[in-house]
Amino acid sequence: MKRRTFMTTAVGAAGSVLVSATSCSDSGGAGEANQVEVFSWWTGGGEEVALEALKDDFEKRNEDITFENAAVAGGSGTNAQSVLQSRLQANKPPDSFQGHAGAELLDYIQAGQLEPLDSFYEKNKLSEAFNEQLVDQITHEGHVYSVPLNIHRSNVLWFNPKILDQAGIDEPPTSIEEFIDQLGRVQSDTDKIALSLGAQWTANHLLESVLLGSLGGPGYNELWTAQGDWSTAEVTSALQAFGQILDHTNQEAENSDWQVAARNVVDGKAAFNIMGDWAHGYFLDPLKAKENEDFGWVASPGTDGVYLWLADSFTLPEGAPHRPAALKWLRQVASKRGQDIFNPKKGSIPARVDADRSLYQGYLAWALEEWANNDLAGSFWHGVVANNKWKSAIDTAVGVFLQDTDAEKLQGSLVDAAEQHAA
Ligand code: GAL
Repeated sequence: MKRRTFMTTAVGAAGSVLVSATSCSDSGGAGEANQVEVFSWWTGGGEEVALEALKDDFEKRNEDITFENAAVAGGSGTNAQSVLQSRLQANKPPDSFQGHAGAELLDYIQAGQLEPLDSFYEKNKLSEAFNEQLVDQITHEGHVYSVPLNIHRSNVLWFNPKILDQAGIDEPPTSIEEFIDQLGRVQSDTDKIALSLGAQWTANHLLESVLLGSLGGPGYNELWTAQGDWSTAEVTSALQAFGQILDHTNQEAENSDWQVAARNVVDGKAAFNIMGDWAHGYFLDPLKAKENEDFGWVASPGTDGVYLWLADSFTLPEGAPHRPAALKWLRQVASKRGQDIFNPKKGSIPARVDADRSLYQGYLAWALEEWANNDLAGSFWHGVVANNKWKSAIDTAVGVFLQDTDAEKLQGSLVDAAEQHAA
């Protein structure tokens, strides 16, 4: 593998703003109700379209409220999360911000940066409306702290069927070994990129699929617990495979975000890309690509039957300047109508259990089915199983690995990261 420079990730450590958690009342509170500043990282192709649709509907239903879109560019929130930390630490929160269900949200909760939403949940009868596992991931010490909008799948292998044909590959790979073999065949038999990659965070994203594909669901899940052992021979093999897979990626990857990497597949430039299903939203709109023609998908190699999940949720920060309007935004996020407007465009399935299934076709119908029947594993890069400090330590180790390709050193750093940050 050649040396390369990747866009680095700036994940801020959990902030330390100490503000008291008051129990949220659904009516009133400080602040004007005529505007709402919503903070996310949904700026690029696909994500922007979905956010705009949700916002347009919100504005239609709340004509007296101006929606201020405070999105900060950078896939997976690499830039947004550090901007957010600075704002929270300076006591200048937006009215609502995007946060991943799980360990990431817990960071904000423990730093006292979020208002509990118990009475909002009660008033809007939300406890039964959402998927149970999700509610667990946004609840701390009996209080619920955010409103989940969707469920995304991280472990998806997108492929270009025509390029696989050219390389004489009948079926996409079902194991890591097969994957490495097929990447080699694309590289030797075609002039295409074998595996398309983007900025450094997309290598972290790839790593979680490779760990899951090598270790299996129980082995992967165990890694993120206090008993997790990162020094095993199984992890060594997984990291060696990670290196071999990276040998087949494009060298110009470093300056582009996930959209460019995913687009290479539908544009016929790359055979494979491992990316979350926000890529599906992007493929359909604005790219207008056709399922099973311009692209196909399967669970990433070795992970069939396991849904490597993550979920976007929106919060009510302590000290939100326009709290009443923020609560109206959260009502929009929580609503069946809002979820059914947003998710088919975003490439995600709804967090609500009563969504209109007829709106989820093709890939999304498959995703709904898989979610209902698969085992679950939580994404580390997208905030479910690792807190921000742990994630940041892994990112640093992966950044070094992309330069020096030393799998043994990577493993050592991952062992250290777990020792320091596993809860
Ligand atoms: C994830 C987020 C998704 C999508 C993706 C790429 O972290 O949960 O909604 O935005 O990043 O930006």
